[in-house]
Amino acid sequence: MAQEDLFKKLVSHCKEYGFVFPSSEIYDGLSAVYDYGQNGVELKNNIKKYWWESMVLLNEEVVGLDSAIFMHPTIWKASGHVDAFNDPLIDNIESKKRYRADVLIEDKMAKYEDKIAKEVGKAAKRFGESFDEKQFKDTNPRVLANQEKLDKLHQRFKTALEDNNLAELKQIILDEEIACPISGSRNWTDVRQFNLMFSTEMGSMAESASTIYLRPETAQGIFVNYLNVQKSGRMKIPFGIAQIGKAFRNEIVARQFIFRMREFEQMELQYFVSPGSELDFFEQWKERRMLWHKSLGFGDENYRFHDHDKLAHYANAATDIEYKFPFGFKEVEGIHSRTDFDLGSHQKFSGKKIQYFDPEKNESYTPFVVETSIGVDRMFLQIISASYCEETITKDDGSTDQRVVLKLPPALAPVKLAVLPLTKKDGLPDKARGIMNELKFDLNCQYEEKDSIGKRYRRQDAIGTPYCITIDHQTLEDDTVTIRHRDSMKQDRVAIQSLREIILEKVSFRKLHEKIS
Ligand code: GAP
Repeated sequence: MAQEDLFKKLVSHCKEYGFVFPSSEIYDGLSAVYDYGQNGVELKNNIKKYWWESMVLLNEEVVGLDSAIFMHPTIWKASGHVDAFNDPLIDNIESKKRYRADVLIEDKMAKYEDKIAKEVGKAAKRFGESFDEKQFKDTNPRVLANQEKLDKLHQRFKTALEDNNLAELKQIILDEEIACPISGSRNWTDVRQFNLMFSTEMGSMAESASTIYLRPETAQGIFVNYLNVQKSGRMKIPFGIAQIGKAFRNEIVARQFIFRMREFEQMELQYFVSPGSELDFFEQWKERRMLWHKSLGFGDENYRFHDHDKLAHYANAATDIEYKFPFGFKEVEGIHSRTDFDLGSHQKFSGKKIQYFDPEKNESYTPFVVETSIGVDRMFLQIISASYCEETITKDDGSTDQRVVLKLPPALAPVKLAVLPLTKKDGLPDKARGIMNELKFDLNCQYEEKDSIGKRYRRQDAIGTPYCITIDHQTLEDDTVTIRHRDSMKQDRVAIQSLREIILEKVSFRKLHEKIS
């Protein structure tokens, strides 16, 4: 299936099955804002639980925090966001559409990468087992030509970003003949900077109101609470503070569904370390976070690191973990070595001493920070993209059928167990309700009696329910049910008494945690 078609299918699947709805839909929606439906909210909560537990439960030196969204406006001056939280924007004169200049250039680079990957794919098919990818890439003239174009463009782009050279960004767009995807025109305005923070007024009287910002990252709430947590928790360096919360950015380009939103959620860890040790911890957190992603079982080859071309104003090292979405490898998580920039700057702007006395070194210093920052919504999209499968299945009578199944890791599935009486008569619904009433304290269960059993299985497959049990006439005689496994569609007969144990073992977060600890 073409990747573009797949992406469209994901978006409509999310709507049809109660995962994600466009916000304010009855008023024609609000651009780049989305609501999570009955299944979406469960999946989202499970993603947050997996992250939170992997940080706070499994690491005794990491504690949690829930800071307010509204913060003192000077925080955003100190953090550099008022002056430097900008994206370079460019308008197409014909279509009047606005784009991020850097994203247009990155998309062009991805096109060169795609061309190379296509050549390699074709050759791999042609040569079969004897294919030597490295040798092919080193010698094939078409691959070499595209690689040269890519390297040149990459270097030029990197220099332009480092120098903050907006004129050069425009020139690259012209030289690379990048056209507006809507109008096909190459008639562009100049590139300008655009600050991404939303602002609002706090206070009821116009004269006493002050401008405050909706936080563009949750991290600053952690920095300004560093002293509170360190002192009240008697934390010793190295230690971390984890937080999950909403962030807001007035994104220029709102495309790709929940990939880039104006209101979204972040899961951030700030890990406080001694000066000089930050790059070692940076490497450690890179590996740990990659392991966390890979433990979900979506294929190691679909993840990669991508080091930043331009370091943010606060960082001395930064990388992204990228996942292969239907629209290419894209960032899911950022890992940044933020030096002592934030704590140092808050110290300066607030006039409060923000330091740590290190008993081992017998000295005080401003801690350095390694940050891991992942978007909940982007992770959600990654998981849906990776889990969505269309399968042709052969039925008992030899005929074939299609099914759409979300192969979600069981711990993350919105519903863990569907309880299905075979018919609506003969006391089967009462028996099914009885089982459900027992299991609902431990598992998110769903009761369904409408439609044929086959249709009910399909509906559960489509929302990723790992187990369905069917209550039939034999159940009334011997207290057994059939349990159907989502991925294999295999069915076993098991005692009602053993259900809780069988399912809990399979859907527990422990299985995931064990892979990373
Ligand atoms: N505190 C550092 C920070 O915010 P970032 O790379 O700007 O770093 C971190 O953002 C993560 O937040 C990204 O990797 C992405 O998953 C998520 N994110 C950022 N902007 C987003 C947006 N507009 N919509 C959805 N997720 C976003």
